[in-house]
Order: sequence, then structure tokens, then C-alpha cells
Amino acid sequence: MNRKRVLTGVTTTGIPHLGNYVGAIRPAIRAAQSPDTESFLFLADYHGIIKCHEPGRIHESTQAVAATWLACGLDPERTTFYRQSDIPEVMELNWILTCITAKGLMNRAHAYKAAVQANTEEHQEDPDHGVEMGLYSYPILMSADILMFNAQEVPVGRDQIQHVEMARDIAGRFNHRFGELFTLPEVKIDEQVELLAGLDGRKMSKSYGNTIPLFDTEKKLQKSVNKILTNLKEPGEAKQPDESPLFEIYKAFATPDENAAFVQMLADGLAWGEAKKLLAAKINAELADKRERYNELTARPAQIEEILQAGAQKARREARGLLDKVRDAVGIRALK
Ligand code: ADP
Ligand code: TRP
Repeated sequence: MNRKRVLTGVTTTGIPHLGNYVGAIRPAIRAAQSPDTESFLFLADYHGIIKCHEPGRIHESTQAVAATWLACGLDPERTTFYRQSDIPEVMELNWILTCITAKGLMNRAHAYKAAVQANTEEHQEDPDHGVEMGLYSYPILMSADILMFNAQEVPVGRDQIQHVEMARDIAGRFNHRFGELFTLPEVKIDEQVELLAGLDGRKMSKSYGNTIPLFDTEKKLQKSVNKILTNLKEPGEAKQPDESPLFEIYKAFATPDENAAFVQMLADGLAWGEAKKLLAAKINAELADKRERYNELTARPAQIEEILQAGAQKARREARGLLDKVRDAVGIRALK
């Protein structure tokens, strides 16, 4: 039986946070544990250098993201686990896909549009001010990541839906022009999980410095949770889910029944401070063992490197066959 191929990556621009965990890491690991899937999970470091120009941070983040995957239960024997930059085939495919991608498609990408909008709001004369080609072409690199392994399912947070749709679009265009070589990927969203807000109310993101880090100590976790925005309602006053991002975070860690009980307690007047204690305890219950493993792993970076190198070998073997077909399809072949 052909197993379903699942693939996802996390960019190496900072320390993984609760949003990364519930949006991508947890669903991807669950999928990887199922016997009828074959999974490809990776560190997106070439994506990292798009947004982050601090070498030390990229390097530190690479270790943190790798240790996070492993601490959360990734089994490198079952999963192909690698660092994007160790697979040169992905970059070759990136260029071939760049040559067939419509510029208009990239004009519509969220990250680029957000940069243009920020320039317009700041009355910049040039709407492309400060936009680098990496940012502009980012969805093509992400398509190469996905299509290189013919992934069928891509578990991501809601902010990435558009990029997976673009990968479908680009795959379809290639197949139409050169023959059916690529699988059209589908996005997989955990219905129970919303895009989590960060401590300033914007999307929780490594790029915004507004995160609740996944593996801080229990004490620091409680401190971060205490900073989640609420309002001035007193204990005893009814509180509704749209009044604080803490509801969404609780929901992401609770069963539907537990969540309903929590919503009810707040509607019945539970104090924000008490709610924050319950939330931190809930998160901690799920993460405590993983945190311990994370700390053990980060003390042994050479061991992580070894695992990544073995993963890169597996991934490259897989990628090579398809890349040869793609090169041949576009007319890049040996002379005979
Ligand atoms: P970041 O914005 O923190 O750099 P990444 O771009 O590396 O995050 O995203 C890695 C994965 O985590 C993606 O699948 C993304 O959708 C998911 N993700 C990121 N932030 C959140 C969030 N706040 N809530 C839910 N999922 C998220
Ligand atoms: N761009 C994704 C993000 O910022 C990370 C990523 C890179 C990815 N390549 C991917 C996710 C391929 C899924 C599939 O979240």
C-alpha cells in the first residue's frame, strides 16, 4: 500500500513558540506517528535568512528548532528529518520553478503585499522599498520544498494556507507544460486550532518578539502567560471568548469538553488571574516531559547534527530521482 506523504517545515529565525507547536509541530508529529503516512519534516533555514539577517540567531535557532522537533516525539528512523540547506536539489528545483512561475502570482503573496502596504502607510515613494527578492519569491522556495518530495498533505498554521495553494498552482502549471511529474499538495489545518495571538495581540511570531516560548521553565511560562492581554473586568464579572487571546490558547491545549468548562467558568466570573493559572498549568501538563527532553538534547548539539546528516542522505536519495526527471522534462540532459 502506498503511504500518504506528509511534509512540513519551520523557519529558523528564533526559538519555537506555542503557535509553531499547535499550528505545525504537534499535528505533523501526530501524522508522522500513523502507520499509513510517510513524513518529511525539516528546518527551513534558507527561509530563515529571508527575514533574519543575524547569523548567530539563524544558527542558534537551527539548533532550537531541531531539538524541538526531536523533543516533541519525531522519530528519525520513521521520519525523514533534515535541514533544507543540506538538500541542494531543493535549490535546483527552486530555480526551475522560478522560471515557470508568473510574476503576477507572487504579487499576490501575503508577505509581499504586507510589505507594500506598510510602505504605502508610511508614505514611502517606492512601494517596494526594502523588499528583497528572497521575500518576493518566498512562495516559490516553499513550493520547491513541497514538490521535491511529492508531498500530498502539508500540515501548517492558517497563515500558510495561501503558500500551499500557490505550490498547487505552480505544480499544475509545470505538469501542464512538461508532463505530470508533481503531486498537487493539499493543506492540512487542525480545525481545533486558530492562529494564536502573541503578547501584543498580533499573530504570535518569531519575527515579532511577542511569543510564549515553548520550552521556557515553568516559572517563565507562567510569567509569559500573565502578560497575555485581557481587559479590566473584575473577578465575578462575566468574560467572553472574544475578550482575550487566552481563550484560543486554552482551546489549543484542551479537549472540547475541557474547553467548554473553561469558557463556562469565565462566563461565571472567574478572575483573569485564576484563568491564567489554569492556562499555564494546562500547557505545562502537555509540555513538561518534552521540555526535559529538549534540555537534554540542546546539551548535545553534535548528536543532533549526526541525526540531521543521516536525514539529509535519505532526503537527497529521494529528491535526486525526481529532480533528474524534472531536468530531463525541461530539456536539461546529457549530450549523446
Ligand atoms: P514564525 O511566524 O513564528 O516565524 P514560522 O513561519 O516558522 O513561524 O511557522 C512555522 C509553522 O508554525 C507554520 O506552519 C505556521 O503556520 C505555524 N505558526 C506560526 N505562528 C503561528 C501561530 N501564531 N498560530 C498557529 N500557528 C502558527
Ligand atoms: N514558510 C513556512 C513558514 O514560514 C515554513 C516552511 C518552509 C514550510 N517551507 C515549507 C512549511 C514547506 C510547509 C511546507 O511557516
